[in-house]
Amino acid sequence: MRYANQVAIITGASSGLGWELAKALAAEGAAVGVLARRKDRLDALVAEIQAKGGRAAAAAVDVSDRKRTIAAIRSLRDQLGPIDLLVANSGIGRPTLVDPINHEDIDAMFQINTMGVVNAIEAVLPEMIERRKGHIAGVSSLAAYLPMPGESGYCASKAAASMYLDCLRLHMRDYGIDVTTICPGFIETPMTETNTFKMPWLMQPDVASRCIVNALYRKKKVYNFPWQLTFLIKFARWMPDWLVAWVLRGKAGERQPGMLRVPSVRPEATQHRRAG
Ligand SMILES: NC(=O)c1ccc[n+]([C@@H]2O[C@H](COP(=O)([O-])OP(=O)(O)OC[C@H]3O[C@@H](n4cnc5c(N)ncnc54)[C@H](OP(=O)(O)O)[C@@H]3O)[C@@H](O)[C@H]2O)c1
Repeated sequence: MRYANQVAIITGASSGLGWELAKALAAEGAAVGVLARRKDRLDALVAEIQAKGGRAAAAAVDVSDRKRTIAAIRSLRDQLGPIDLLVANSGIGRPTLVDPINHEDIDAMFQINTMGVVNAIEAVLPEMIERRKGHIAGVSSLAAYLPMPGESGYCASKAAASMYLDCLRLHMRDYGIDVTTICPGFIETPMTETNTFKMPWLMQPDVASRCIVNALYRKKKVYNFPWQLTFLIKFARWMPDWLVAWVLRGKAGERQPGMLRVPSVRPEATQHRRAG
C-alpha cells in the first residue's frame, strides 16, 4: 500500500495504459480520479475499483479544452481531497502525411499529447505549490527521442511534452514538487492494436503500469523503458540518416504511430512479456 491516503489523478484512463495505471494505483491504496472523454468506460473503471474496496471518481473531459480540463480536475479534487500525484497520460497517435500535409491530425496530436499535459498540470500546480508538495508525471514516449519518417507530428508532440516536463522539473526543485517524464516503448493497447508489424519488446499494459508505478514511487526523473528498446533508439541517434531511414523504410503516412521496422532480436522475450 505505497500510496495509502494519497490522491492520484490519471488522464486517459478509459483504456489501455491509463486504465491499468488507475487500477495499479488504487491497488496501492490511492484514491483515484480518472479522466477521459468516454464517461461510460470511466464509470466501469470506477465501479471495478470500488468493488475491490478502493476510492475512485470520474470526470469526462477532452484534455485539449483547457478550461474544462481545469474544472474537471478541480471537481475531482473536491470529491477526493488534495491531489498528491498527477499522471497526464491522455494521448493519440496518427500518421503524418506530406502531400497534402494533414494539418488537423498534427494539430490534434499537439493539442492532446502536449497541451493536454500542460492543461492537466495547470489544474494541479497552484495547490501543489501552496502545499509545497506533490508529484507530476507525464506519459511521453520513446518516440520523443527518434525521428521517424511519417511520424513527424507524433514524435514532435511527444518531444515537446518531454522537454516541457524536463524543464518543469528544474523549475519545481525549490517548491518540493517532483516531476517524472515517462517514456514507454511498445505497449499492447488500442493505440497499437492496428499495427501489422512486429513490435519489439512489446509489453502488456498491466506489466507496463506496474513498472511505471514502481518508477513513480522511486520518484524517477525520467523513466525510459524497456531498457533494450531505449538502448536501440538512443544508439540510432548516432547512426547516419540513410541507415535510420533504411531501417525505418516505408512510405510516409502509411505506417502506424510508433512504428519501427526492426525485427525483435529476442522474440522469446516478447512472448515472455505477453505471458506476463
Ligand atoms: N501503446 C504504446 O505503445 C505507447 C507507447 C508509448 C507511449 N504511449 C502513450 O501512452 C499513453 C496512453 O496510450 P495507450 O497506449 O494506453 O492508448 P489508448 O488505449 O488509445 O488510450 C489513450 C487514452 O487517451 C484518452 N484520450 C485520447 N484523446 C483524449 C482527449 N482529447 N481528451 C481526453 N482523453 C483523451 C483516451 O480516452 P477517450 O478516447 O475516452 O478520450 C484513452 O483513455 C498515450 O499518451 C500514448 O501516446 C503509448
